[in-house]
Amino acid sequence: MLYLAIESSCDETAAAVVYSPQGQDVFEIRSNLVASQIEIHARYGGVVPEIASRAHAETVAPLTQRALAEAGVTMEDIDAVAVTSEPGLIGALLVGVNFAKGLAYAYKKPLISVNHIRGHIAACFIEHKVKAPYAAFVASGGHTSLMYAESYTDYETVGRTRDDAIGEAFDKIGRVLGLTYPAGAEMDRLASLGNPDAYKLPGAAPLDDSLDFSFSGLKTYVINLLNTEKMRGTEIVKEDICASLTKAVTTSVVKRLKDAHRIYGYKTLCAAGGVMANSHLRSAMADFCKKENVELVMPSVSLCGDNAVMIAIAAKYEFEKGNIANLGLDGEPSSKHDRV
Ligand code: KG4
Ligand code: ZN
Repeated sequence: MLYLAIESSCDETAAAVVYSPQGQDVFEIRSNLVASQIEIHARYGGVVPEIASRAHAETVAPLTQRALAEAGVTMEDIDAVAVTSEPGLIGALLVGVNFAKGLAYAYKKPLISVNHIRGHIAACFIEHKVKAPYAAFVASGGHTSLMYAESYTDYETVGRTRDDAIGEAFDKIGRVLGLTYPAGAEMDRLASLGNPDAYKLPGAAPLDDSLDFSFSGLKTYVINLLNTEKMRGTEIVKEDICASLTKAVTTSVVKRLKDAHRIYGYKTLCAAGGVMANSHLRSAMADFCKKENVELVMPSVSLCGDNAVMIAIAAKYEFEKGNIANLGLDGEPSSKHDRV
């Protein structure tokens, strides 16, 4: 089966062609193109939804054409068209969804609707054989979710952020620190040079029995701290702020993974999403998993961020389960499929 996948849920337009034989967990990436809008949004310090939609609309058709050409195939060779339909910026999602619907209709191909968060998790299957059940942690600029999966298509959201996503907190604090949007990668680098104990910061795992996160308190605390220090004329050591923030985030994430392990006793953990490119989070998670004898599966750093290969892989499992979307498919800003 040859899948064409399209992703446009936030600020990256992506198209990929992936081959995967039916019933086998084998994937050949025939093309993988990502057109980032970061430069456009950087001057505003964050994603401007209307600008994102327009950029997707300009890019999606030529990018898809290039993805087909690089794979050496035409639309006739494609067996199914996959698209991210939720969650994300509604205007941005609609560009990809409508484009994919047009292709599916014109070329009489099955259309497969993919949840972006499940897509991120599917990036873990590219280089590793993952056996269900497993827990999954997805951290990106827009999402922070803890899930439990009985199979590649049967997910339950057991914890989520109640406000800001981790990446959003990194990016907003980064803006106050004068870092370029998106700030995550630069913060990662600065954190390695700073003292993680320089500032005592609040955690992001609420003190209750839930598996939820809350990053807005931590974000506001750090931004207030930076503003106060600035007013006092105290010099801010960016490296120390980044190191302390990273420590607060990783400690909270590992705490929730521990809580979830107590409840679900999972043996495998898939961790994905743009923020999982973070070297400190990757090593803190590896330490935790080693101690608990849990197998940790993470995509390589280049496949942590938004891409369409992950959408094709999630689509394969939906397709093989018979989950074909109809041409009435709509974009949904939040995940409607996940039980909480
Ligand atoms: O998954 P993604 O590409 O897009 C969304 O679905 O949101 O994630 C983007 C997010 C941004 O907030 C960016 O700052 C963050 O991932 N990010 C990182 C790192 N690289 C990217 N955060 C922390 N450490 C990194 N190395
Ligand atoms: Zn994403």
